Amino acid sequence: MRTLPRTMRAARLTRHGGPEALELVELPLPTPESGQVLVRVSAAALNNTDLWTREGAYGLPEDPHAKAGWRGRVEFPRVQGADIVGDVAQVGPGVDPALVGSRVLVDPALYGGTGPHAHPVGLLGSERDGGYAEYTLVAADRVHSMENANLTDAELATLPTAYGTALGMLERGGVRRGETVLVTGASGGVGLALVQLARERGARVIALTSAGKVSAVRAAGADATLVRGGRVWPELRAHAPEGVDAVLDVVAGDLVEHGLPHLREGGRWIVAGALGGHGAAFDIRRLYLHNRALIGSSMHTPAHFDLLVDIARRGGVAPVIAARYPLVEVHRAQAELASRAHVGKIVLDLAG
Ligand SMILES: NC(=O)c1ccc[n+]([C@@H]2O[C@H](COP(=O)([O-])OP(=O)(O)OC[C@H]3O[C@@H](n4cnc5c(N)ncnc54)[C@H](OP(=O)(O)O)[C@@H]3O)[C@@H](O)[C@H]2O)c1
Repeated sequence: MRTLPRTMRAARLTRHGGPEALELVELPLPTPESGQVLVRVSAAALNNTDLWTREGAYGLPEDPHAKAGWRGRVEFPRVQGADIVGDVAQVGPGVDPALVGSRVLVDPALYGGTGPHAHPVGLLGSERDGGYAEYTLVAADRVHSMENANLTDAELATLPTAYGTALGMLERGGVRRGETVLVTGASGGVGLALVQLARERGARVIALTSAGKVSAVRAAGADATLVRGGRVWPELRAHAPEGVDAVLDVVAGDLVEHGLPHLREGGRWIVAGALGGHGAAFDIRRLYLHNRALIGSSMHTPAHFDLLVDIARRGGVAPVIAARYPLVEVHRAQAELASRAHVGKIVLDLAG
């Protein structure tokens, strides 16, 4: 067993703000309490939520412009990073010591209840310290063994938030084999995960993306692509004359108003992000007259995460890594994410 250091390097937020609000610091090594494990982090993926949490871009129900995290007020300082892969370095009281040394993928959700269908009400890196650190504490029942998975640590790190969110959308929207779906923001972390996971369950995927990213989105498995800013809706109809069964949307904004009529009878619009704008006005008649459903989807449930772990263990997805950075270059990594020129996921390497 490796001796544990007394301190660790971490990147933590001191307040909402620009890149300067994220500071590189040396912290005392945390000690696992009852029911917790200490994970030695080897890889941590970035997500758009890291940028929005840093900026405080989520607003509050009573004030959409208020600086806030996705669940409201964020307690600072806060180590960022939801997506964690590593090995168990130490266990707290009451946790099986045999876990020490196992390679694990961490479910980053904090759930609002027990059971397989509990809703996520918190996230590592937002409501608890996360994985932009050499070590992090997590609940023992949130670590999933990945001993026999063929994916690398960096690949596994891309899964929890992006693929977890994508799987949550597919499950909540009841997407089935043989259906046709439209994926928006298709080159991003959640978007590419949607493309792969929808294909994995036998759906036909039409992907909406920027012109320069069409070939990468095709390579990830999209059956057809539409170019953002082009003649999106007539082209969608050319691919799906009856309309699509589901729209898997992380962009929202104007897309909702223009796209809703292109859902077929009984179709579902599942939304999990608002990069295109968080105000959406649409003709409500286009919703109810066709038995369409508008479904909000945030992250995953424990059941969705178990399904994701199964898919990962059998290599059912092929994560795309856009770039890798050491922890000391976390600001560059976030800047690259914010520039949106990437395809796939940006990962911090923490091992070594
Ligand atoms: N609800 C949840 O649980 C949850 C979880 C994770 C993420 N999210 C949200 O989902 C969204 C995507 O996250 P991500 O991590 O996948 O981000 P990402 O990796 O940065 O990808 C976002 C993609 O969206 C497209 N896009 C960006 N700005 C756009 C705009 N103004 N109009 C249209 N398309 C735009 C771009 O793809 P193209 O160039 O291909 O169009 C971009 O690559 C974010 O809003 C994020 O907060 C929600």
